[in-house]
Order: sequence, then C-alpha cells, then structure tokens
Amino acid sequence: MNNLFSDEVLDALVVEINSGRSISRPKDALSEAREFHGWTLNKLEVFDLYLKLYRIVAGNGTCIDAFAGTGRGLSTGNGETVHVDGSSLIAAKSGAFSNLHLIERDNASFQLLNIEIMSLKPSQQSKIQTYNDDCNLKIPDLLQGGKLDPSKPCFAFLDQESTQLDWATIEALAGWKTYEPPPTERGRPKACKTELWILFNTYQAITRLWPTDRQKYPEAFSPQTLDRIFGGREVWWDLWQDERSFSALVERYCDRLYEIGYQYVLPQLIRDPGTGRPQYHMIHATDHPSAISFMRWAKRSSDGYENQQLLGMETST
Ligand SMILES: C[S@@+](CC[C@H](N)C(=O)[O-])C[C@H]1O[C@@H](n2cnc3c(N)ncnc32)[C@H](O)[C@@H]1O
Repeated sequence: MNNLFSDEVLDALVVEINSGRSISRPKDALSEAREFHGWTLNKLEVFDLYLKLYRIVAGNGTCIDAFAGTGRGLSTGNGETVHVDGSSLIAAKSGAFSNLHLIERDNASFQLLNIEIMSLKPSQQSKIQTYNDDCNLKIPDLLQGGKLDPSKPCFAFLDQESTQLDWATIEALAGWKTYEPPPTERGRPKACKTELWILFNTYQAITRLWPTDRQKYPEAFSPQTLDRIFGGREVWWDLWQDERSFSALVERYCDRLYEIGYQYVLPQLIRDPGTGRPQYHMIHATDHPSAISFMRWAKRSSDGYENQQLLGMETST
C-alpha cells in the first residue's frame, strides 16, 4: 500500500463502482439461502467498496473468510426478492486476492457455498479452498500449515453471527506477520500483521450477555462466554464491577487489539438502514494507515451514515 490518500484521490482510484450487486437468478439450491437484512447488505457493500481500493494497492495476498456462510443470500425490497453475493463471493470476484480460504462450520451452508463457488469463473474458482470446520480450530491449523505466503498481505474477515469468535483465534491471526509495505511519505510502516475486519455483535448479542437489570435477569450474564471472547476474566471484570454499560465492551475490545500490537483500530457502527437502529460494530484492525482511510471511505460511501467513532479510540492517521 502507498501513503495516505485524500478523499479526492480515493474517489479517483475507484474507476467504476458497481453498486448493482443484485442479480436475479432463480436456482433450486438457493431456496434455502438465508435472507440478508438491510444491515447485512450495508456491511457487504462496505466490504465490496473497500476491496475495490484494497485490490489496487495490496492485491495478490490471502483472504481468510472465517464465517463464510452460503456464498449468496436473499434480499427482499420493493416487493422483489433477489439473490445477492455474500462475503466469500464478493471477495472471490473482487480480484483482490490470489488465494482465498473459506471456512464454514454448518454442513448445509457449506454445501450451498460450494455450489455457489461452482458458478464462478474457473480462474476465480481455482484460487479458493473451502473447509467445513470450526474457524477457531481451522485458522491456527492454516497458519501453521505452510499454505499461506508470509510475504504477501493477509486479510481476515471475521463475520460471526453472535459470539462464536474466540480471542485465541484473534491472537493466532495477529501472530502471523505478513509483508513489509514499501516506504510511505511518513516513513516505513512496520511489518503488517494479518489485517482483521471483525463483526463485534454489540447490539444483537453482547447486550444480552450483560443485563442492565442484574437482579431481574441474573441468568443472562455469561462470564464464560465473555472470557472466551475477550481472552480472560481480568480483561473485562472491572467493567462489570463498575456497572458500566455493555457499550464499554466495544471500547475494551479495541483496546485489546491495540495491546496485541495493531497500529490502527477503527470501530464502525452498522445500523438498520430502515430504522436507523444500531446493530453491531465492524472493527477494523490493521498496521497500515492507508487501510484505515480506505475503510473510512468505504463506510462513508456506502450508505450516508457517518462513521461513529468512540472518543479517543483512534490514533491519528
Ligand atoms: C453471519 S454468517 C456469515 C455470512 C457471510 N459472511 C456472508 O456474507 O454471507 C455466519 C456464518 O458462520 C457460520 N459459523 C458459525 N460458527 C462458526 C464457526 N465456529 N466456524 C465457522 N463457521 C461458523 C454460520 O453457520 C454462518 O453461516
């Protein structure tokens, strides 16, 4: 990646933004495809836009889609249901990666995913490997297995449904050093670790583990789950003792990413486009300043919602 980009330069880099991702394509196998809500479509649009820039400056690396899903999903709007690409197909079609590792634990979803991959061009298919596995087990195995090129960028999309992603998996990914980017006007960025884009399910899942009324809902509190997500009781226990709101957990999660060495951590709030209600955060962790400006641009360009920063959570870019 190069140096920092102004908005004008970012806009100029994107020669053609294909916003029409929806392709109507009836197919029996897809009768089981899951519905993508507005907030999912927004997330996928950000991903699609981000990869259009990423591809230009950091292509030819590895993509790990740890919660790959079914490949495509259904979007219902204006009385019409259309099939839309999910993350793994977006990544495969983007041309941003020379190899893609797609992990999906659920058997039925895995089958659909493989059917969808067969509909890709042979040149796209040949870059893909799929695994019917738990990503928390498969990712350490992949990183140790000698299949990934450490001299190339590595991007991990961690699109969990609720709280399936273990902190140990984040640590494994962060321990994987990839390429050293070329010098920028601001000097040479450090060797980059795996770039992470993590769904932190603040409003759909985390809030349920952290009851506001502790007397009324004592059983909702799940310390074991929080330990697994955060990598230990000591990481979050003070927040519980101080009776902080569940939203403090997003901030703590970002702090943890800084602690394990990421130079830039950007949480972005994804809302329901219909109601404006917050759904979850997408947290971007990277060692390269350009990646952060690309992600900001992608979010800003996607839906008109301003990025929501948590105060004091970013280093300046
Ligand atoms: C939110 S969906 C992913 C959607 C996908 N990224 C897309 O854009 O279509 C999460 C997926 O992760 C799968 N999953 C859940 N736990 C998993 C695990 N531990 N390892 C791998 N996949 C898992 C679920 O079966 C589900 O298909």
